[in-house]
Amino acid sequence: MSATNSEAAISAAGQPFMPRQPREPVVRLGSVTKRYGEVLAIDDVTFSLDAGTVTGFLGPNGAGKTTTLRLLLGLTEPTAGQALVFGRRYRELDQPARRVGAVLESNDFHPGRSGRDHLRMLALAAQIPPRRVEEVLALVEMEAAADRRVRTYSLGMRQRLGLAGALLGEPELLVLDEPTNGLDPAGVRWLRTFLRRYAARGRTVLVASHVLAEVAHAVDRVVIINDGRLVVHAGIDGLTTGGRTLEDAYLELTSGEAR
Ligand SMILES: Nc1ncnc2c1ncn2[C@@H]1O[C@H](COP(=O)(O)OP(=O)(O)OP(=O)(O)O)[C@@H](O)[C@H]1O
Ligand SMILES: [Mg+2]
Repeated sequence: MSATNSEAAISAAGQPFMPRQPREPVVRLGSVTKRYGEVLAIDDVTFSLDAGTVTGFLGPNGAGKTTTLRLLLGLTEPTAGQALVFGRRYRELDQPARRVGAVLESNDFHPGRSGRDHLRMLALAAQIPPRRVEEVLALVEMEAAADRRVRTYSLGMRQRLGLAGALLGEPELLVLDEPTNGLDPAGVRWLRTFLRRYAARGRTVLVASHVLAEVAHAVDRVVIINDGRLVVHAGIDGLTTGGRTLEDAYLELTSGEAR
């Protein structure tokens, strides 16, 4: 660290110089509300995520998880409040592919294109060198199927391809919606280990999932929403004290029914 670094500098009074602003959270939802006509999908939700954390995003069907993720990614606009990544709206980020990678519910693949070509096009659009395509294909263990048309892929293969696309820019934040959907047990284990390692390098993961046992193993924090409202944002350890499983806590805190 150089002597000119302001954080390391010592003030004239001999006290360490502290930056005025605390570090900006990676994700910040401030009083976010989202209405679709009569449906109040998100109701005044506020939470922040710090760098280096893996957060499980839980809630019953229709609770508002995907809507929240879409708001964060600028795919839909809040009716009120702010959904920010790195202190900005997603659309205002420079080089968004290098900051945020996402796999949402509906992967938009051209069925006639090969997995490799799909990734090459994404890389080209985001000014990412083509060799990175080969790296992410290896990372998600999809080299063998890379030249097959996406229409011939199984559900799990599509998930892996989606993840490969999200990882192209080595983003600081990964946003995943039901990523274990369709993955075989080896794939689920691989993903769990991968997410932990990803966050250990100071990156941040927000993962919506219904597979609570898997979530419990992979995350250090949990956000639960129900009926569009924030129910809890807590460390996994605090939620699962005294022999209580994440499933116990979840079912206590939510009705467990689709709206
Ligand atoms: N484009 C839309 N138009 C109208 N209503 C919508 C739209 N998108 C979501 N909703 C509604 O918003 C609510 C939240 O939906 P959302 O998809 O965010 O739930 P979810 O928590 O992701 O559920 P699941 O676990 O089933 O994926 C639901 O009532 C849903 O019907
Ligand atoms: Mg959803």
